[in-house]
Amino acid sequence: MKNINPTTKLGIWLIEEDEAFFREKVPLHRNVTHPHKRLQHLAGRFLLKYLFPDFPSHLVQIADTRKPYLPDEEYHFSISHCGDFAAAIVSKNYRVGIDIEIPDEKVKRIHQKFISDAEMEVLNPMHLEEYTQIWSAKETVFKWYSKGEVDFRQHIQLHKIVDHSCFRGFFTKNEYDLDIFIKQFSKLCLSYVFTPEIQM
Ligand SMILES: CC(C)(COP(=O)(O)OP(=O)(O)OC[C@H]1O[C@@H](n2cnc3c(N)ncnc32)[C@H](O)[C@@H]1OP(=O)(O)O)[C@@H](O)C(=O)NCCC(=O)NCCS
Repeated sequence: MKNINPTTKLGIWLIEEDEAFFREKVPLHRNVTHPHKRLQHLAGRFLLKYLFPDFPSHLVQIADTRKPYLPDEEYHFSISHCGDFAAAIVSKNYRVGIDIEIPDEKVKRIHQKFISDAEMEVLNPMHLEEYTQIWSAKETVFKWYSKGEVDFRQHIQLHKIVDHSCFRGFFTKNEYDLDIFIKQFSKLCLSYVFTPEIQM
């Protein structure tokens, strides 16, 4: 668990428990038929309460875009899962997005779908990990925006990478500059954003 700032926390959970462990703590918010995906979904919901024990899980709604949210926005939150990991970022007053990815060669193969020519020149990705970080950063911005209809090449422009820990980015749909933070673990790439609450 990491305190990003006094009102924002982030956590990654390695799922080693069975479904019953999560089911007695949090509700299932949508029908998930595949057992492992259901476990991932529950672990994500569990993390919300783990980070903020007063998080009102039972009030979570799902938008048409599939984004989960709290109607009164008491907390902003974002969830991701991959393999045996779940991650969540929760904030009282920042708009947030999160993504975790286990590097997969497919991302490198399809890179032209999400990396523009200008980004290829500036970011110059060489290794699978670097392609994965770019993909993950853009998924994070997609979730932060949350309204869908995002062209990853056109609408999310990554300008440069700072210290291997942060992309400077620009989201063209609302002309917003944002920093996308990256943390590379041995088998997992984490990215996240937090920005002041803005009207989308
Ligand atoms: C929605 C999306 C980001 C989910 O990503 P994923 O890698 O399948 O799954 P993750 O585990 O990282 O994230 C899933 C979680 O994201 C959240 N989520 C789903 N839709 C969301 C949305 N529109 N906005 C914000 N969060 C969303 C949910 O919490 C979901 O988990 P839950 O249902 O268990 O609560 C992805 O399916 C998607 O649509 N990506 C955009 C693809 C695209 O447009 N590509 C174009 C370039 S090639």
